[in-house]
Amino acid sequence: MESWISDFDLQKSITDARIAMQSEYSLSAALERGLPYFGRQLAAFQSPPVRYALLAQFARSVLRGKAMGNILEIGSWAGASALTFGSVLQELGKSNGRILCIDRWEKYHEAGDRSVHYVAMNDAIATGEIETLFRHNVRVCGLEDMVQVRKADSRKTLPELDGDAFDLVYIDGSHKKDDVVHDVQQAKRLVRQGGVICGDDLEALRSEVDPAEHQAALTRNQDFVLDPLSGRSYHPGVTEAVAALFPNVWHQCGFWCVERVGEDWKPPALHLDNLEIPFHLRHAVEIPYGVVYGHEVFQLGDGFVAYPMDGPYWFQNRIAGGCLEEIVVLLEAIDHMEQTRAPRLIESRGGFNIVRYRGKCWVVNQSAGKVDFHDAEQVDSLLASGQLFETDTVSEAKASIACMQDLRMAGEPLEGADGRSNRRLTDNKARVVETVLVEQEQSAKAIRALEEKQAILEQRLGKREEELLSLQRGWVLRMVKGVMSMFQRKP
Ligand SMILES: C[S@@+](CC[C@H](N)C(=O)[O-])C[C@H]1O[C@@H](n2cnc3c(N)ncnc32)[C@H](O)[C@@H]1O
Repeated sequence: MESWISDFDLQKSITDARIAMQSEYSLSAALERGLPYFGRQLAAFQSPPVRYALLAQFARSVLRGKAMGNILEIGSWAGASALTFGSVLQELGKSNGRILCIDRWEKYHEAGDRSVHYVAMNDAIATGEIETLFRHNVRVCGLEDMVQVRKADSRKTLPELDGDAFDLVYIDGSHKKDDVVHDVQQAKRLVRQGGVICGDDLEALRSEVDPAEHQAALTRNQDFVLDPLSGRSYHPGVTEAVAALFPNVWHQCGFWCVERVGEDWKPPALHLDNLEIPFHLRHAVEIPYGVVYGHEVFQLGDGFVAYPMDGPYWFQNRIAGGCLEEIVVLLEAIDHMEQTRAPRLIESRGGFNIVRYRGKCWVVNQSAGKVDFHDAEQVDSLLASGQLFETDTVSEAKASIACMQDLRMAGEPLEGADGRSNRRLTDNKARVVETVLVEQEQSAKAIRALEEKQAILEQRLGKREEELLSLQRGWVLRMVKGVMSMFQRKP
């Protein structure tokens, strides 16, 4: 999370968030005191805060030159994005601006979707609380006159609206491909000349993901999946619809946009200086607290939330608790499960599989083929040849893989590498599934193998140092050395 704070120079917003937090920002306190609420309860906050900073900046640049500012939003939930538009209209003095919010507030995700986040969303819908919170948030932010609501499906409502009527259409409703295609096609009709279409949930472009995996995810109608090629989690339906309907879009941190220029749709020029997290969301910014059982823990309003350090910073992975003790107990239980759970694939990248097992991360060269770790002979030979090794965290595993790739780029094939590791990941899919992990007692052997490997690498590095430096690749050396110092760690 630190990265987007510094990448977008959002430190000031974070400081403001710390101040906003001091008043113990709970749902009941916000309802009682007439404050907006986007904290951990009711899954009220739906996207990383940086997206709203981008959204605000984008809306500002689009609406500044417009006579009034007519906005259409598909998918409002508790109102975080609608209020972002409202605050920009207020800031620009456009009291005649209008925001039409379309939302069904009906069961959103399939029953099969058991992530904590989706379950919390369905609960918040079932009780009607989320719609009530939306209306509360709009009212306490003084936007009742500006915001109009249609509680309906976008498939029904959008075709009823007049064409060429909006300056900005924001698409953040269904993630299903056919629904997004429908919303985008309607948006194209509804946006007037010089207007824009933008949306959420574009974490990866179609050109960046594994084509076969992508097709499979679309066929299965999956909402959110891990792409083995880019290592990113993304919404296949959104990625597919955007790729099918626009040749090129501006995108950053999941937020995407295009501008209508004549009959064409082009990425607008967007300046990212002075980004700020909108004020109504400051209390919902997660403040880093520490690391507990492989999870990054953050303070959030009157409670705490945690994200596994393995996975991406997605709300789908978020664990929330009312107090630190609650979070620690939850994480303890998860850790216990981790220790006894079957191996599972975290990510495939650069010809390697990163697999989680018994609280450790194992890196397996895909060219090793089917690996049966109960076969001591095979394991020994894989460890000795460096086709398998162990790290403490996924970040360490990724750094090691990057390091090995750099060595390859520098013309130094690793011991045991047979050139097949550059094959397309799709060729290796069967192997990915088949990868089984070594038992924990094998880890001593793994460490011995790593030490041997380190000696080999050191030798090679010595030989290549001058050459690499002359190629201005000093950073490669630093990384390699960094990774080697990790290898030196004892169990
Ligand atoms: C991710 S949430 C929107 C988050 C909101 N824009 C924000 O920034 O907080 C998606 C919303 O879209 C709504 N939705 C999903 N499919 C829809 C559809 N076909 N028509 C209307 N609303 C829909 C859901 O009820 C949900 O409130």
